Amino acid sequence: KRPAGAPDRKLARPVTKVGIVGAGLMASQMALLFARRLKVPVVLTDIDQARVDKGVGYVHGEIDKLLGKKRVSPDEANRLKALVSGSLDKAAFADADFVIEAVFEELSVKQQVFAEVEEHVSAECVLATNTSSLSITDMASKLAHPERVVGFHFFNPVAVMPLLEIVRAEQTDDATLATAFAVGKELKKSSVLVKDAPAFVVNRLLTRFMGEVINSVDEGTSFEVADQATDPLGLPMTPMILLQLVGSAVALHVSETMHHAFPDRFTVSSNMKKFVAAGKAAVWQWDAQGKQSVDPEVTAL
Ligand code: 3HC
Repeated sequence: KRPAGAPDRKLARPVTKVGIVGAGLMASQMALLFARRLKVPVVLTDIDQARVDKGVGYVHGEIDKLLGKKRVSPDEANRLKALVSGSLDKAAFADADFVIEAVFEELSVKQQVFAEVEEHVSAECVLATNTSSLSITDMASKLAHPERVVGFHFFNPVAVMPLLEIVRAEQTDDATLATAFAVGKELKKSSVLVKDAPAFVVNRLLTRFMGEVINSVDEGTSFEVADQATDPLGLPMTPMILLQLVGSAVALHVSETMHHAFPDRFTVSSNMKKFVAAGKAAVWQWDAQGKQSVDPEVTAL
């Protein structure tokens, strides 16, 4: 069944090579998924060789884990490893049909990235963005071919979360949107078409929810109690563990975007700002016996 709002799939263009800008955790997880499901070459780029190597190394490590669990055969593992490569030069995207960016969550940075990619790819190459909250229409606005830009928003961990938010910018044409849905299907994700509105749907809900949990800490509730209080909701992860998974800097950035867009509905927690300023990755820590406690440095912030 065609997802609501998806154009006729006959309009979709084939994807025979994928480029990924950024080689961080989200980008590397995407690289593995694209290689595994589309079975096409995937090139990861970043601003320095160390980051590129780390991204490719992560993908190889995850393939070894799949091999260990017998989810892939030794041959398939080798084939997958050969499909994923790294490069410092976006010229490596020359014959790509689908390039997705997952760089720093800042509009000007993402616009710059797309402008650079556009110099190397064909006019039909889809330019997708994994932004969590920024406007896809703004991101497309400075390009020669804005009609090939589309939002393609994954959730962490990319390998296991089934949902994919596909976002149509004002400029996106039907062929681009159809290609995005066709790729989403090949990736075995449940794709939904969402409005190009701040933080789309999922992160808007999540930011409000996480924001209120952390606001309760601002008001004097302890981190432990704030986390425990969500127990009746039966979530797969407590909010403080989810914060660690998403990354506190990303979460802060999204809540600032939401506050800017809807100041009457979204606040930015002072604890969250302190947490990020201190470079903290986690609220909880675990000792050698697996006992969980709140990091005293976090409580002292
Ligand atoms: N990478 C790859 N695979 C992972 C993984 C990771 N980081 N974490 C877990 N998995 C895999 C495991 O290997 C396991 O696979 P297997 O069955 O093949 O062995 C499977 O997922 C289940 O893992 P576990 O049994 O260890 O753990 P759980 O049953 O607790 O599930 C979870 C883990 C799926 C991550 C679950 O805790 C969950 O759904 N958490 C909520 C995550 C969430 O809400 N994500 C959205 C964040 S918002 C976002 O990303 C948007 C962004 O824009 C900010």
